[in-house]
Amino acid sequence: MRVLIGVSGSIAAFKSLILARLLYKEGHEVGVVLTRGALNFITPLSFQELAGARVLTDDDFFKGNTHIDLARWADVMVVAPATYNVIGKVASGIADDLLTATAAAFPHPIVFAPAMHTEMWHNRILRRNLDILRGVGHVILPVGEGPLASGDVGEGRMLEPEEIAHYISRLERLMEFWAGKRVVITYGGTYEPIDDVRVITNRSSGRMGLALASWLSMARAHVVAVACGGVPTAPSAEFHRVGRVLELRNLLLDMDYDYLFMAAAVSDYAPDYRPGKIKKSSDVLTLHLKRTVDVLSELGRNKKGTLVGFALEERDRLEEEAMRKLREKNLDYVVANPIDAIGSERTEVFLFGREGLLGRYSGNKWQVASEIVMRLASV
Ligand code: CTP
Repeated sequence: MRVLIGVSGSIAAFKSLILARLLYKEGHEVGVVLTRGALNFITPLSFQELAGARVLTDDDFFKGNTHIDLARWADVMVVAPATYNVIGKVASGIADDLLTATAAAFPHPIVFAPAMHTEMWHNRILRRNLDILRGVGHVILPVGEGPLASGDVGEGRMLEPEEIAHYISRLERLMEFWAGKRVVITYGGTYEPIDDVRVITNRSSGRMGLALASWLSMARAHVVAVACGGVPTAPSAEFHRVGRVLELRNLLLDMDYDYLFMAAAVSDYAPDYRPGKIKKSSDVLTLHLKRTVDVLSELGRNKKGTLVGFALEERDRLEEEAMRKLREKNLDYVVANPIDAIGSERTEVFLFGREGLLGRYSGNKWQVASEIVMRLASV
């Protein structure tokens, strides 16, 4: 694979030398872009010597279309270390040096390995910027905890090069399986109108679907993202946004796919819609709810590819319920979450296939999504 490492100005830049070396030894072709800040810590020569890397700096920025050529050259782009500053620039759409301009031109999700001091790691502007990056499908690797360059101990250390290299090698294996496959991913929560103002919906951040879309887009699947409600746009080759269950059903029944991930939280009941706005004329308002169609069951009856369902279950009945849904809806896999894990940044999932449990994974949604797509690729 051709891996482009963007290095920004942090003392952790020395670790990106090790990263480049590891990737080179694994047989990858390595390219490096150094920011002006990075040059304070390391030299182009080190990367050339250790990883046979093609190294570029801002001196190359205005020589032709370097950023476009680089963005087209790379299969994977990883920014390591990603400083507070470079994260802020990419999240804000600033492209004033070779690294950020290449990031702007790179058409696939980018992997960021943040490195900074604990106070900066907890800064609210950084948090918002990370959310922006995640929201458009980039991958933010976790940071480590331990001694920092300042002598303090805390969160904010860049992930070790071995771990970053592990994620990148994983991507190569994912590409072997997923590249070119047509994958539909639904995520978010449907909206059923009560009147023209109010809706019934499900709480769903859509993060699992976004994470799946990130990994599968990076693995060069043809991702068709179907967002339900107001969740962020996912990185994808095709994008649709729907509200009602029926809209979702009609769209999906018309689609062809190799894999369909049904991560959307679909309303099981919908009210009788009343045009206009219901006035608050009485103390009690009774809504009459009717069962919606079970979209996944319908897809199971008209199966065109592999179906992956999602289920939120009580822990003690998780396996029984997941396997029941798998059989009744004619699914190939079910990803089940215990209800007690809902709402936390860390998640825990159990992946079931027709023969039973295939794996149990925990971590943040990005880590868990990568485990799921890896496991499906090796079945
Ligand atoms: N699902 C669907 N259409 C519905 C309800 C659910 O396609 N009307 C899908 C969900 O997107 C999910 C899977 O079915 O992938 C399981 O959803 P879940 O809510 O766990 O199961 P239900 O079949 O609705 O059963 P229950 O709510 O009784 O647990």
